[in-house]
Amino acid sequence: MFNINNILRENIKRLVPYSSARDEYQGEASVFLDANENAFGSPLNQQFNRYPDPLQYEVKKRLTEIKGVPPRNIFLGNGSDEAIDILFRSFCNPGVDNVIIVPPTYGMYQVSANINDVEARKVLLTEDYQLNLEGIAEAIDEHTKLIFICSPNNPTGNSINREDVETLLANFNGLVIVDEAYINFSRQKTFIQELTEYANLVVLQTLSKAWGLAGLRVGMAFASEEIIEVMNKVKPPYNVNEASQQLALEALNNIDQVNGWIRETLLQRDRLVLELKNLEFVLDIYPSDANFILVKTTDANGIYNFLVNKGIIIRNRSKVELCEGCLRITVGTPDENTILLQTLQNFK
Ligand SMILES: Cc1ncc(COP(=O)(O)O)c(C=O)c1O
Repeated sequence: MFNINNILRENIKRLVPYSSARDEYQGEASVFLDANENAFGSPLNQQFNRYPDPLQYEVKKRLTEIKGVPPRNIFLGNGSDEAIDILFRSFCNPGVDNVIIVPPTYGMYQVSANINDVEARKVLLTEDYQLNLEGIAEAIDEHTKLIFICSPNNPTGNSINREDVETLLANFNGLVIVDEAYINFSRQKTFIQELTEYANLVVLQTLSKAWGLAGLRVGMAFASEEIIEVMNKVKPPYNVNEASQQLALEALNNIDQVNGWIRETLLQRDRLVLELKNLEFVLDIYPSDANFILVKTTDANGIYNFLVNKGIIIRNRSKVELCEGCLRITVGTPDENTILLQTLQNFK
């Protein structure tokens, strides 16, 4: 049975979090002389002289309306990358504990592990980019705290079989982190609705992809109240700045525009697949549930360099295990995709 106290680091159990000036006062006030801010204002048209809400309540309230998850089950971070790092810092003892990652997958799990001096045990995906459940079971030991699953997966683009993720959730006594950065482009349902079923589930999402706010750095983690409490205790007090909170809130009211872009992205993804198939150096295009496609080619380095010279940047993934010869192409605007396709016609 999963019990958060069995996996939490002892120092985090004992941690008394930083108490900010705004945490310590409750109620109504009009004179704020508690936080050593500049009381006169900001040298801007907009005022940012006050510290932001540490728990980002207004943004969470709006997310609750959109996602159907109460604020107490939502963590907001400076990108979902911050949530990944905080999970390591909360649950993994440096030099002792380990996590499982399933390459080819998003690179930050490994980097965060390295930063935190935590072993990342690699269990490669199968040839069809699904979980090797037996391999994962063998890699788990008493020091395994986290398993990272990215679905839809970056860089392969496919979704991971739901039943396999549920098998992990039901049998693993650490946290299973399902990174859904690309879920808005997917035919699959989010795992958010499984939060009531599995106490060890953490779902990551972000405003950086479909929501078009990569520059604001706002990421989300959805989990049980006790996991979210730990994450809030460990995070820097003001981790999502005031400008990001205000703009995220405004953007979350423009959901129709975002849904329009998602529909257009999916059409453009189909178009890219259709047209890329006709190019003789394209060997395979993997099915994608994301806003990018992984393309196997005869000469990944040659194509990559050719495109760079024409001012077009894609991602060369050909050195990644199980992605030999592969390029990852983000779906652009119709015009950008036209330029890409026309340029590729000239590659010899
Ligand atoms: C799978 C996955 N997770 C998380 C992130 C990071 O998202 P954020 O911008 O919210 O830090 C990315 C960014 O590329 C990603 O591909």
